[in-house]
Amino acid sequence: MRLDKYLSNATDLSRTDAKRLIKNGLVSIDDEVAGNPAQKISVDQVVAIEGSPISMAQKRYFMMNKPAGVVSVTKDHNNPTAIGLMFEHRSEELQIAGRLDIDTTGLLLITDDGQWNHRLTSPRSDCAKIYRVGLAEPIGDDYTARLAEGVLLEGEKHRCLPASMEQIDEYHLNLKIAEGKYHQVKRMFAALGNHVVSLHRFQVGEIILDPDLEPGDYRPLRDNEVSSI
Ligand code: URA
Repeated sequence: MRLDKYLSNATDLSRTDAKRLIKNGLVSIDDEVAGNPAQKISVDQVVAIEGSPISMAQKRYFMMNKPAGVVSVTKDHNNPTAIGLMFEHRSEELQIAGRLDIDTTGLLLITDDGQWNHRLTSPRSDCAKIYRVGLAEPIGDDYTARLAEGVLLEGEKHRCLPASMEQIDEYHLNLKIAEGKYHQVKRMFAALGNHVVSLHRFQVGEIILDPDLEPGDYRPLRDNEVSSI
């Protein structure tokens, strides 16, 4: 991982502040002053700020293949929760990064790293999400163009950002969107006069749902998946 990123992940420093400390010669790696924020560091190296070693806070990152019938909130009295399916210590510290509806299946990202969660879910995040969508009515000839110009959802003043689709068959398509408005995909197809009957998310940014995960299973994210966000 890059030194500036390591510092901002392991401390409360922003990436800019981390770079400033490095440029000012206040950061060392294995007792040698580090001048380059892009320098790669490995897990066995000791990074220190003004001589005080910092340790990488053990932030946790997971992907789950969310089954239908499970809610993406931390607590719910009526339905099983995604966090409740996990066997992790301090599970109350885990948050869901980008919720899915109870009937939506697929890629759910779960972490205790608030900054990472924010990077993924903030309205300014340009992290693309890809869904397999099943529709009640056949796909219209105009859908590609209408999605590309931005669909106007009921009750909203501004159009959605342009979205793209890849048709699979008469009723199924892969939809790529850059936002995460409330019930966005269902509302987009309602605005096109159709109805979503199945919804499965399989990609967020560079992170692809692991095909080895059965519904309800989860695994830790790999380092390259974490740092892709
Ligand atoms: N859009 C929806 O309508 N539902 C989801 O669960 C995710 C995106």
